[in-house]
Amino acid sequence: MTKTVTWADGRVLPALGLGTWKMGEDPRRRQEELAALRAGLDAGLTLIDTAEMYGEGAAESLIAEALAGRKREEVFLVSKVYPHNAGATRLPQALARSLKRLKTDVLDCYLLHWRDSVPLEETAEAMERMRAAGHIRGWGVSNLDVEDMEELADPRCATNQVLLHPGERGVEFDLLPWMQARGMPLMAYSPLGQGPVLRNPALGKIAARHGATAAQVALAWSISHPGVIAIPKSGRAARAAENAKALELELTAQDLAEIDAAFPPPRRKRPLAML
Ligand SMILES: NC(=O)c1ccc[n+]([C@@H]2O[C@H](COP(=O)([O-])OP(=O)(O)OC[C@H]3O[C@@H](n4cnc5c(N)ncnc54)[C@H](OP(=O)(O)O)[C@@H]3O)[C@@H](O)[C@H]2O)c1
Repeated sequence: MTKTVTWADGRVLPALGLGTWKMGEDPRRRQEELAALRAGLDAGLTLIDTAEMYGEGAAESLIAEALAGRKREEVFLVSKVYPHNAGATRLPQALARSLKRLKTDVLDCYLLHWRDSVPLEETAEAMERMRAAGHIRGWGVSNLDVEDMEELADPRCATNQVLLHPGERGVEFDLLPWMQARGMPLMAYSPLGQGPVLRNPALGKIAARHGATAAQVALAWSISHPGVIAIPKSGRAARAAENAKALELELTAQDLAEIDAAFPPPRRKRPLAML
């Protein structure tokens, strides 16, 4: 069964989306990257994650090109504002630039990329003004730990996007349960650990039992947590399609136990890990 996560507004989203960090930067890779995004969309990865930071807008422009000819409603678009643009005056300007690059008039979710000097409350209110004006359908945060989420204490915040993969499980101790208790989906970034974690023999062994790949096992593990949407990035069409198949991969209790043995779950609070 295809794994899904229900968003705050009731929309049912695939539990896997498409990451875009480092895409759109190299003209020689452009056609392959466009093909990768389209292959991912065709395989059901209809949530796309990007940010004004990625290639200083180049990833957003690449996405617009990949989406040309498709209906806007087929895709759930997420972008992020730099912390230095997250204040009352600059946030609307940064959002307008992102919308222009993405060739759309509304984002499904706009995230604060990480926390810096602008007070969270100011960013939340700026986000709400953008929602009231119809420029975004919702908003959230990224790289915020439990203490920050408690300080924000805003039920209008739709998600928190944080680092989570088999080799980096700190959020399972406190942040993930905190979000699950509030029905707030968690977006797992770098769910393939940017590659190296896939060489772990435990993932290979489980993959072999399922006729799957280590990447599919890592992704299936991420989205086996209720409320988690993982956003792997690939600039290759075959891998995007491979990753999408993880939506159907059911890990067994034995698989999960072997992952726990290879990558022990956290037993105490750890500071939030970020990239
Ligand atoms: N909010 C934040 O602060 C934050 C931070 C980091 C990332 N993110 C978001 O999360 C997304 C994903 O994270 P990420 O890009 O850091 O890393 P990732 O998705 O964990 O890993 C990407 C790497 O894995 C490779 N890969 C993809 N599919 C594969 C497969 N099936 N088999 C083997 N290798 C595979 C990719 O290479 P190829 O492209 O060559 O296939 C790339 O080198 C980002 O793109 C971005 O949208 C957000």
